[in-house]
Amino acid sequence: MTVTAVIGSQWGDEGKGKVVDYLAEHVDYVARFNGGNNAGHTVINEFGTFKIHLVPSGIFAKSAIGLIGGGVVIDPRVLIEEIEMLNKAGVGVDGRLWISPRSHLIMPYHKILDGLYEQAKGEGATGTTLRGIGPVFADKVSYNGIRWSDFTSDAFESRLKVQMELKNKIIIALDGQALKYNEVRDLYRSYYEKVKPYIQELFSLVQAGLKAGKNFLLEQAMGTFLDTDWGTYPFVTASTTIPSAASAGLGIPPRYITSVVGVTKAYTTRVGAGPLPSEIHDTSTEVYEQFAEVAATTGRIRRVGWLDLEIVRTAVLLSGVTELCLTKLDVLSGLKDIQVCVGYKLNGKDVTYVDVDSYGLDKVELVYKTIKGWKEDISKAKNFDDLPAEAKDYVKLIEEAVGVPVKWIGVGPEREATIRR
Ligand code: IMP
Repeated sequence: MTVTAVIGSQWGDEGKGKVVDYLAEHVDYVARFNGGNNAGHTVINEFGTFKIHLVPSGIFAKSAIGLIGGGVVIDPRVLIEEIEMLNKAGVGVDGRLWISPRSHLIMPYHKILDGLYEQAKGEGATGTTLRGIGPVFADKVSYNGIRWSDFTSDAFESRLKVQMELKNKIIIALDGQALKYNEVRDLYRSYYEKVKPYIQELFSLVQAGLKAGKNFLLEQAMGTFLDTDWGTYPFVTASTTIPSAASAGLGIPPRYITSVVGVTKAYTTRVGAGPLPSEIHDTSTEVYEQFAEVAATTGRIRRVGWLDLEIVRTAVLLSGVTELCLTKLDVLSGLKDIQVCVGYKLNGKDVTYVDVDSYGLDKVELVYKTIKGWKEDISKAKNFDDLPAEAKDYVKLIEEAVGVPVKWIGVGPEREATIRR
């Protein structure tokens, strides 16, 4: 039995979708345990190119059963569209995608409130994806949430009525447009009818799988430094993103997790506000051009920076990462020199990410190591030895600084563009 958690070691967008799709080939279960459709995973394989937000990225492995745990928050419209898209593309999710009745629903008022709160915060806004994530998790932990299981009794109507009265008051106070109870109720009832065939309590399924020694792949959404507790608070997301969340979000006891794959992009990116210590601010530079990306969920341009090994090292320690998957190494090809942040100093003293916390990150001085770049196109490399010496040095530098092996290296967006060591 293997229970492998795949986590991003930076601020999300490390390329976890591709890695999960690649690793899912020999697994029995692929599962999402946190976040919602704020996540955007790009997967390119024999079925086509997909941007998926809720269904586990490992669903393309025909033998795998997909699970969406109770720790995930669901926008039903997005889920329905995704299921339809995957079925149309021949992926066939019916009968092998199961959603926990414990998962909470993102309601229209959550999305409205997300926008109104951001507006009210002005300069201090988080830069959320506006998918309603903060408000739905706030409702979950303040006992105001609505779950799929509420549809099995009259709880849905009665809970919705109370929530809409409350939420409309807040919306109106913030100059927003109030919502109509009947419309929301009917819309969500129709969503429930469509999603119902996929809803099933996961507990016995998961327990039976663990007992039978099946292989699980647990797919984190977002990244380590967007974690509510360990991220750059308040510029974080509303769910726990480290692997311990998989236990709560799926009902898998922590002792069953056998390995943790840390997905690390060969440089750093971030969407939204908040500290990004190794950020490259000069947008006219060649390196900025090379690293610039468009976010899969919101279409926003991501902020970019050099690889920050203090960040990756912290993620490795925090999540018990056993091996790294380095992604997008090919993006660095052509750079004359490559900078890597190997540590932080504050007032001349070595400090860690955890020492300085979120606001101190703006004050730390970054210690960089410069290594020689390579000119060669590495996108066709199949083995580690096919890489230029400088690229190999880059990989070795990461391993030394972080203390775990780099087992896979991504050299292109397709599933096959992966070197296994
Ligand atoms: P929220 O999760 O939409 O509330 O946004 C909170 C912060 O997390 C913002 O900075 C978002 O840009 C960021 N964020 C949320 N989901 C992702 C993701 O999948 N990748 C990268 N950043 C994300």
